[in-house]
Amino acid sequence: MIAPSVALGLVALARAVVASNQTIDELYFYGMSPPVYPTPNGSGIGKWATAYSKAKALVGQMTLDEKVNLTAGVSVSNGCSGNIPGIARLGFPGMCLSDAGNGLRNTDYVNAYASGISVGASWNRELAFDRGWYMGREFKTKGVNIALGPVVGPLGRVAEGGRNWEGFANDPYLCGALAYETVTAMQSAGVATSVKHFIAYEQETDRNPSGDVASVSSNLDDRTMHELYMWPFQDTVHAGATNIMCSYNRINGSHACQNSKTINGLLKEENGFQGFVVTDWGGQHSGVASALAGLDMAMPNSDFFWGANLTAAVQNGTVPESRVTDMVTRIIASWYQLHQDVDFPEPGIGMPSSLLEDHTVVNARNKAAAETLYRGAVEGHVLVKNTNNALPLSNDAALLSLFGYAATAQTEQGPLANVSFSFGSGGIAVQNYTMITGGGSGANSPAYISTPFDAITNACIDKGCSLYWDFESAEPSADPDSSACLVFVNAYATEGFNRPNLHDDYTDAIILSVAATCNNTIVVFQNAGVRLVDTFVDHENITAIVFSHLPGQDSGRALAALLWGEENFSGKLPYSVAKNETDYGVTLAPSEGEGAFVDWPQSNFTEGLYIDYRLFDKSDITPRYEFGFGLSYTTFEFRNLSLAASTTASTAEYPTGAVAEGGQTDLWDLLYQVTATVINTGLVDGAEVAQLYIGIPNAPVKQLRGFAKPQLMAGESAVVNFALTRRDLSIWNINAQKWQLQSGTYNIYVGSSSSDLPLSLTFSL
Ligand SMILES: *[C@@H]1O[C@H](CO)[C@@H](O)[C@H](O)[C@H]1NC(C)=O
Ligand SMILES: *[C@@H]1O[C@H](CO)[C@@H](O)[C@H](O)[C@H]1NC(C)=O
Ligand SMILES: *[C@@H]1O[C@H](CO)[C@@H](O)[C@H](O)[C@H]1NC(C)=O
Ligand SMILES: *[C@@H]1O[C@H](CO)[C@@H](O)[C@H](O)[C@H]1NC(C)=O
Ligand SMILES: *[C@@H]1O[C@H](CO)[C@@H](O)[C@H](O)[C@H]1NC(C)=O
Ligand SMILES: *[C@@H]1O[C@H](CO)[C@@H](O)[C@H](O)[C@H]1NC(C)=O
Ligand SMILES: *[C@@H]1O[C@H](CO)[C@@H](O)[C@H](O)[C@H]1NC(C)=O
Ligand SMILES: *[C@@H]1O[C@H](CO)[C@@H](O)[C@H](O)[C@H]1NC(C)=O
Ligand SMILES: *[C@@H]1O[C@H](CO)[C@@H](O)[C@H](O)[C@H]1NC(C)=O
Ligand SMILES: *[C@@H]1O[C@H](CO)[C@@H](O)[C@H](O)[C@H]1NC(C)=O
Ligand SMILES: *[C@@H]1O[C@H](CO)[C@@H](O)[C@H](O)[C@H]1NC(C)=O
Ligand SMILES: *[C@@H]1O[C@H](CO)[C@@H](O)[C@H](O)[C@H]1NC(C)=O
Repeated sequence: MIAPSVALGLVALARAVVASNQTIDELYFYGMSPPVYPTPNGSGIGKWATAYSKAKALVGQMTLDEKVNLTAGVSVSNGCSGNIPGIARLGFPGMCLSDAGNGLRNTDYVNAYASGISVGASWNRELAFDRGWYMGREFKTKGVNIALGPVVGPLGRVAEGGRNWEGFANDPYLCGALAYETVTAMQSAGVATSVKHFIAYEQETDRNPSGDVASVSSNLDDRTMHELYMWPFQDTVHAGATNIMCSYNRINGSHACQNSKTINGLLKEENGFQGFVVTDWGGQHSGVASALAGLDMAMPNSDFFWGANLTAAVQNGTVPESRVTDMVTRIIASWYQLHQDVDFPEPGIGMPSSLLEDHTVVNARNKAAAETLYRGAVEGHVLVKNTNNALPLSNDAALLSLFGYAATAQTEQGPLANVSFSFGSGGIAVQNYTMITGGGSGANSPAYISTPFDAITNACIDKGCSLYWDFESAEPSADPDSSACLVFVNAYATEGFNRPNLHDDYTDAIILSVAATCNNTIVVFQNAGVRLVDTFVDHENITAIVFSHLPGQDSGRALAALLWGEENFSGKLPYSVAKNETDYGVTLAPSEGEGAFVDWPQSNFTEGLYIDYRLFDKSDITPRYEFGFGLSYTTFEFRNLSLAASTTASTAEYPTGAVAEGGQTDLWDLLYQVTATVINTGLVDGAEVAQLYIGIPNAPVKQLRGFAKPQLMAGESAVVNFALTRRDLSIWNINAQKWQLQSGTYNIYVGSSSSDLPLSLTFSL
């Protein structure tokens, strides 16, 4: 929709251009972001009808000043990341918003769950749901109305991205499926999710304006937007997400929190989003323009833009009062939607640190979550190399030598002694100790930390083994009697910075030094993203490599159970590990301001759809370990692929349904059902992630469109089902502005990774 008020939205852009000597064409690779006005009103479609009618009744009693007050945060020193003030005369208590998507931060008596990247590596929908449910209960107990997560952007375009670990996977299907479960679960526990960061926020470098340098502009085409970056957000809107957080970057030149194409257009119009949009902290850069572009709430305050100025803008006719009414209706409807009006503690009551409940209640809640905390840690581990039966460790192994800086916890302070986290190496998210989470606002507060050293010590208490250790030497050597040598190292990442590399010489030197003296060297990475292994992978003495990802507080326990085979590995990589940094091409590193654009950093997504395995397929690059890869202690076979077409769903080229949450309703029609048999052909029990990839005409040769994770006893088999929806089989047609089924031959592949796909069939539309 384009209305006369379009001009107002362009004010900020025009000023930006005037401030430079560049023309618009020179500044914006793809042209500027198209204006889409006005903001669609939240209308109470679908399951929102009751919440909207209650919200309209309450908002109808508010004065303009009261409404304006609910659109911006206020400073309250209660430990919440943000606070919306209450309105006592109407019985509205206000709201507390707090970090983050991997567990509640900056408080006590809560748990550190496995991070997004570990849940991605688990490929387990039930785990994602259970984790969301138990996290949600903790936020609710503490009076946090809105949890600032999960992360689906960054998706992981940039291999060195500092926040990729907060999200699930750099494949939009896997990411969206796990985010769908997370949002459904957290909201069913009564807590709103703030799905973030909307959108195309793919690097930390220049994310915010600084001095003369503008925030980076992600310049991307409409098809890539829909098929990669929007896809997981669409899933979460479909799940009923009540809140979405706009990001720091610009898109096609326009700040994400005042971009009318993304907020009014993609989110509220095309995807029928009924909740509200909140800024990332400090992400608002204009008053009138952001209001008209569809922003609903500014955090942690709006001291420079809204407040009295928003009231004035309504009074002088610049912003229609109906826009402010819509902001507040969306906010209050979300509160009713999750029944926070009848069943919620006082906002922020348990923040920042106080034990309000009986100890027995707290401990019972933590015990209920224990299995999920543990499963999250276990299933996020991926075994990528295992030769000479290095793993599982034999119960007869007499001497184990342990090395590396990541085996133990920081000893200065335990988690409860100091719950204050900072960027960089602060708090628990430390570089040179065991790493259970990455750094920044996505770090979380553990109840305890089970370290690799502690857990292996406990195992030796049980099994009678002995330990030698040296966690400090940069060039350690093994006791010659060692049955196995384990090296514990990190690949650290934090919000605020991109990673400097995908491997580091200091760590590689420790690994190679151990391998020179120990013919059974097992390398264990705690890794917040891709970690290359090519400097040592072919070393004759390196027998096993494990990616632990970021397991949360049960890290060591989970690892020890896997090392001795009490648990089986079942994780699969949620990204590809290349042989060399250079293989990632333009998607390796963040974009920097350069040349005429030195103060106007531009990140041109010239690769379009081709990131990670889509890129490697297209460029014919063989990765070291492909997307979806992971070993097990057992073996699996795939058989009997079959396809059944729906007898009722339309296969007309375009959908015709009305827009509901997540877009046109028939995008979710089931068009085909694919089944396959998975057989555990080995000697031990295990779970296999069966993966379905599809080659859609006029699209990348293969893209993930289904997965299932059956747990199978040795010798057992199971039939797995993959449901293919209209959206799964469509591409985004930029002219029609609709998802479009393609005519031609579709290829379906099923197997155990993106490269190991023994079963295939085709069908035509
Ligand atoms: C823009 O201004 C800068 C600094 O004055 C100058 O170096 C540059 O050449 C100018 N660019 C154009 C396209 O005029
Ligand atoms: C991005 O695109 C613009 C316009 O084509 C171009 O001038 C600029 O150099 C590109 N930036 C990078 C980093 O490639
Ligand atoms: C960005 O520009 C491209 C090219 O003009 C356009 O296709 C796309 O829709 C734009 N996206 C946004 C969000 O402005
Ligand atoms: C939103 O609702 C108001 C009435 O409250 C109406 O005046 C306005 O036109 C509506 N906006 C749109 C985009 O439909
Ligand atoms: C708006 O919020 C401010 C600060 O919290 C408060 O002082 C003021 O009374 C509020 N105004 C209304 C109309 O509620
Ligand atoms: C209104 O805008 C002016 C100019 O940007 C700013 O200095 C002032 O702090 C704003 N006032 C409020 C109450 O937001
Ligand atoms: C209306 O008020 C807003 C906020 O104070 C201000 O930015 C804008 O320039 C005003 N417009 C007119 C036409 O007075
Ligand atoms: C937590 O750490 C901060 C910064 O290091 C320090 O100032 C503070 O005293 C510590 N608090 C506790 C309870 O140890
Ligand atoms: C971690 O260890 C390396 C190597 O000793 C050192 O260069 C670095 O400063 C350490 N980092 C922190 C945060 O202590
Ligand atoms: C492998 O380990 C043995 C000790 O077990 C050592 O003698 C040998 O040199 C190592 N191989 C390499 C290539 O370092
Ligand atoms: C590895 O080294 C151990 C002791 O150093 C030795 O007993 C064993 O045979 C070696 N294994 C291989 C495969 O070389
Ligand atoms: C990666 O490629 C670069 C450039 O070809 C080369 O210098 C480097 O040694 C390679 N790294 C590895 C680990 O192979």
